[in-house]
Amino acid sequence: TGTPTLAVIPGDGIGPEVTAEALKVLEVASPVKFESTRYDLGAERYLATGEVLPDSVLAEIREHDAILLGAVGGKPNDPDLPPGILERGLLLKLRFELDHYVNLRPSRLFPGTASPLAEPVLRKGEIDFVVVREGTEGPYTGNGGALRVGTPAEIATEVSVNTAYGVERVIRDAFARAEKRPRKKVTLVHKTNVLVNAGSLWWRLFEQVAAEHPDVTTDYIHIDAAMIFMVTDPARFDVVVTDNLFGDIITDLAAAITGGIGLAASGNVNPDRTAPSMFEPVHGSAPDIAGQQKADPTAAILSGALLLDHLGHPDAAAAIEAAVLADLTEREPGTSRRTSEVGDAIAARL
Ligand code: NAD
Ligand code: IPM
Ligand code: MN
Repeated sequence: TGTPTLAVIPGDGIGPEVTAEALKVLEVASPVKFESTRYDLGAERYLATGEVLPDSVLAEIREHDAILLGAVGGKPNDPDLPPGILERGLLLKLRFELDHYVNLRPSRLFPGTASPLAEPVLRKGEIDFVVVREGTEGPYTGNGGALRVGTPAEIATEVSVNTAYGVERVIRDAFARAEKRPRKKVTLVHKTNVLVNAGSLWWRLFEQVAAEHPDVTTDYIHIDAAMIFMVTDPARFDVVVTDNLFGDIITDLAAAITGGIGLAASGNVNPDRTAPSMFEPVHGSAPDIAGQQKADPTAAILSGALLLDHLGHPDAAAAIEAAVLADLTEREPGTSRRTSEVGDAIAARL
């Protein structure tokens, strides 16, 4: 009921460039008109005011129906922007505070795109899988610390936090998604042979939930071996459930083999809908190409499709996907279009 509201956080680097195109496409594709509010969070605001995500702004954002984010973060190792300030203080804070425990990252070999994978690998089967990355725990929680910094006796720890509550709910989500997919398969990716405490918890809960889903095929692969299969036989994956850090790494590789990081969309989903979910490309702020209209906005546009789907508009989401697929198929190899031209071309198909 009422006009749905969208909090838009364009962020840094190419974030504003790709977000503009996602909004352009949402505007024409969405069956409902959104009331959007733009939040100028990111490096610029931090450098000007020292503010990253004031509590009052978080409280406002929380009241929206969904969030669209571009990217945050500066150049790696920029002395003016200490690492983690924006990543932890803005992006992860939003994911944690809004309980985005399912970080949903679909991968499908896009037509008309060049995969670095060899022909015999591509012939093994269709590449169409989704990574259900745990989004609120693991090594991302900021537990740990540094002692005797700068001395030869320095000790740095990052503690991975895994709760039965957190692990079970994300595994349940993965199985529920698998039930709706034709192949109905869930692969747990972990490192149970070394990370024995967390690994044991993940494995036990995986087996327990699997027992409730006799029609779902299950598989387990250690993270290192999973990286082999990602490039030698990615067709074996359907739903992949994994911890926060493994999921981060897997999904950049998954993007690279399915058409490139410029196409990979994601949703930080709160399946219980106790707070708004947030949709963003998998990529970062790409400082190397920022401000030049060189970024591919497709990942942001497809993130907009995930947003529409989440808000109950699957047909509009499918229409965006179809427009993107048509655009990809007709992209001229060797030519490059400006960010806004790609957005225009996709919007024009809707
Ligand atoms: P990145 O994803 O920003 O860039 C990696 C490479 O991919 C670069 O060469 C970049 O030019 C290219 N690339 C990324 N997006 C592209 C697009 N849409 N079109 C064409 N090329 C694209 O990763 P990075 O360089 O490791 O990180 C840069 C900054 O972004 C860091 O501050 C990092 O913390 C931050 N980051 C933020 C997010 C986020 O906001 N969700 C995600 C990842 C990284
Ligand atoms: C991503 C990014 C983030 C992550 C960083 C910027 C905190 O790499 O969204 O994949 O590690 O989750
Ligand atoms: Mn990442």
